[in-house]
Amino acid sequence: MHLAELRIRGLRNITSAELVLAEGLNVFVGPNGAGKTSVLEAAYLLSRGGSFRTHAAEHLQQREGESLALFARIRSQSRLRQLGMLREAGRWVARLDGESSSKLAELFAASAVMCFEPGSHALVSGGAEGRRGFLDWGVFHVEHGHAERMRRFRRALRQRNVLLKQNGDEEQLTLWDRELSDAAEPVAQARETYLARFGQALSLVLEQHLPELGQAVLRHRPGWDRSISLQQALHDCRQRDRALGHTTRGPHRADWMIAFAHAPSPEQLSRGQEKLCAIACLLAQVRLFQESRGESPIIVFDDLCSELDVAHQASALGTLIESGAQILLSGTEIPDALRTRFPPQRWFHVEQGQVRAMI
Ligand SMILES: Nc1ncnc2c1ncn2[C@@H]1O[C@H](COP(=O)(O)OP(=O)(O)O)[C@@H](O)[C@H]1O
Ligand SMILES: [Mg+2]
Repeated sequence: MHLAELRIRGLRNITSAELVLAEGLNVFVGPNGAGKTSVLEAAYLLSRGGSFRTHAAEHLQQREGESLALFARIRSQSRLRQLGMLREAGRWVARLDGESSSKLAELFAASAVMCFEPGSHALVSGGAEGRRGFLDWGVFHVEHGHAERMRRFRRALRQRNVLLKQNGDEEQLTLWDRELSDAAEPVAQARETYLARFGQALSLVLEQHLPELGQAVLRHRPGWDRSISLQQALHDCRQRDRALGHTTRGPHRADWMIAFAHAPSPEQLSRGQEKLCAIACLLAQVRLFQESRGESPIIVFDDLCSELDVAHQASALGTLIESGAQILLSGTEIPDALRTRFPPQRWFHVEQGQVRAMI
């Protein structure tokens, strides 16, 4: 899959930009604060609705700008799709192939952008929410129906939490325990299936790119004791949940982690190793995507060259370029060694929110 064209209006310091992108490596160079990350953010937003560097969408819209709008043409399996996102009254409005009643989930299903950026080490050292997000994104793109599954689960969780807060009666809680349990089971199963495949892909990637960390084992915490049903687990913790006013067991409490032979706990990794581990997870997820979908997701590398040493930059880039992935790479400068080995197909200069194609 690749972005053939990307148009940005009113995003951070970019008033307007229209880019025609190459299928392979696209490089964005310019000084600090020029708008490079914002270009990459635009591509990412189209596939997620959120940014990799802020949770608050109100920071995205240009100060004093009239509106925030993104448009892209994405070629996937020889089909050219048109994606549009407009920020209106604090909400995103989606448009897929000219259809104004499109759902955001349809847009996200039509584009798949994966990202490695200066905050990516949080996948290893940050909270469980980021790892669950990573996992669910992978499941969403390789298994049909995951968005629907998650919606049902979240609704049941919300309802149970409301009941807990309102001190609802036992009978009603039992009904919602059952619904939550029924909704949670397929979510947990889909995640387990994906993680098993992810673990295999990760081992291969680590062997190839990071042998220095030794063998890795992937651990999964599903969010409750899987030897009993979630219904049973919810029943067992009901009094505590009532006291706390929320549900303490279930897939919303799931987590996964990697234990290395040379670093059994994530706390034993250096910041640099956390980054290497995060890039290995990205490469493993790309692999699974390729196996399931027969094409690559789009890869965004923000400031890759200041984040990884040249040898690891080269091995990650080499693998991705070889597999035919489209890459959007930014940096204040790109090391000569890298430029010579991987000559960019397209080169953009970014300055004060202006994006100019050089080749
Ligand atoms: N909402 C906003 N409106 C206008 N400018 C913004 C907004 N948010 C951030 N900026 C500015 O946009 C510029 C581009 O930032 P960024 O894309 O991170 O640059 P780069 O990655 O090239 O260093 C910065 O100068 C930043 O101060
Ligand atoms: Mg930047």
